[in-house]
Amino acid sequence: MMVEGKAHNGRLLDVEDLIVTFETDEGIFRAVDGVSFAIEPGEVLGLVGESGCGKSVTALSILRLIPGPVGKIAGGKIRFQGKDLLELPASKLHNIRGQEISMIFQEPSAALSPLHRVGRQLVETIRLHRKMDKKAAWEMAREWLAKVRIPDPEERMYAYPYQLSGGMQQRVMIAMALMLEPALIIADEPTTALDVTIQAQIFKLIRGLKRKDTSILLITHDMGVVWEMCDRVAVMYASRIAEKGTLEQIFNAPAHPYTRGLLASIPKLTGAKGKLKAIRGQVPSPFEYPSGCHFRDRCPHAFDRCAAEVPPLYEVQEGHRASCFAAHELVGKPPEAE
Ligand SMILES: Nc1ncnc2c1ncn2[C@@H]1O[C@H](COP(=O)(O)OP(=O)(O)OP(=O)(O)O)[C@@H](O)[C@H]1O
Ligand SMILES: [Mg+2]
Repeated sequence: MMVEGKAHNGRLLDVEDLIVTFETDEGIFRAVDGVSFAIEPGEVLGLVGESGCGKSVTALSILRLIPGPVGKIAGGKIRFQGKDLLELPASKLHNIRGQEISMIFQEPSAALSPLHRVGRQLVETIRLHRKMDKKAAWEMAREWLAKVRIPDPEERMYAYPYQLSGGMQQRVMIAMALMLEPALIIADEPTTALDVTIQAQIFKLIRGLKRKDTSILLITHDMGVVWEMCDRVAVMYASRIAEKGTLEQIFNAPAHPYTRGLLASIPKLTGAKGKLKAIRGQVPSPFEYPSGCHFRDRCPHAFDRCAAEVPPLYEVQEGHRASCFAAHELVGKPPEAE
């Protein structure tokens, strides 16, 4: 769905060839290496992949929250509503944060100040972006606490974050991210700390926003959540995009051996229970990524060329791309055949 004024070439967010480096005592490495993806208005894009592959670093880059001077955006473009966020003056970016793009962090402490009561933080955030008197903002904040299923919301408005459980803090942060109804929500493992019933309610809430054309970048390692929530999926492996496509393309016709392994290693969403296959080997440290394809050491299909060249993102079906020399061969085959 397109919304007048929100879209730019139909895209709300366009990340192109993003490169992020970290310089540590052991040397410099690329945490994100040439990542590209786009999100359209009203679309939920799932970003998945093993721990350390660069999902959070990608998300943080969008709002230029990479901690410098250790971390640096070393290349690429990030366009939001046509504006290049990497070139924008800090003051303009500040206006976009919270109002146009909000972020649900992996860690609630990244978003909540320990020094102020929850109610005050919510009210101030609302009043920063909306012309509202304190009473109306208080009402709105309390309503949002109720929406994220916080019991006794009025009472909780007076609590300091440390007086709330981790799951409760997470929900306050979710309320804070959703309440201004931004055009884009970046949600980095938003419900990891929550029990499954609350998780389901939060996702219901997020899906409700989707109807209002809110776009969501949803980072998760849970393929069940991806299946429930996403329209399209980008799979990352060791700093790069391995594969991207629609939900159906990724689940029904995975073309990259990593995606195929990932899907074979989760319990079946439907149908008979099968034996779970783990992907052999381990994710290497970023200092030890192999030449060529980063997955080749663990790949059952690797051959000489995989060491010599980085496979481009071949288009295997319309809108479906995989960074693998064997992608065209694999796309039609069921993953179980390997
Ligand atoms: N501030 C930092 N300083 C140095 N290295 C970092 C920093 N933040 C992230 N990294 C490194 O960058 C790489 C990508 O990290 P990132 O946090 O994006 O992974 P992730 O995909 O979000 O993993 P997870 O699923 O565990 O959250 C990792 O090797 C990580 O150790
Ligand atoms: Mg992360």
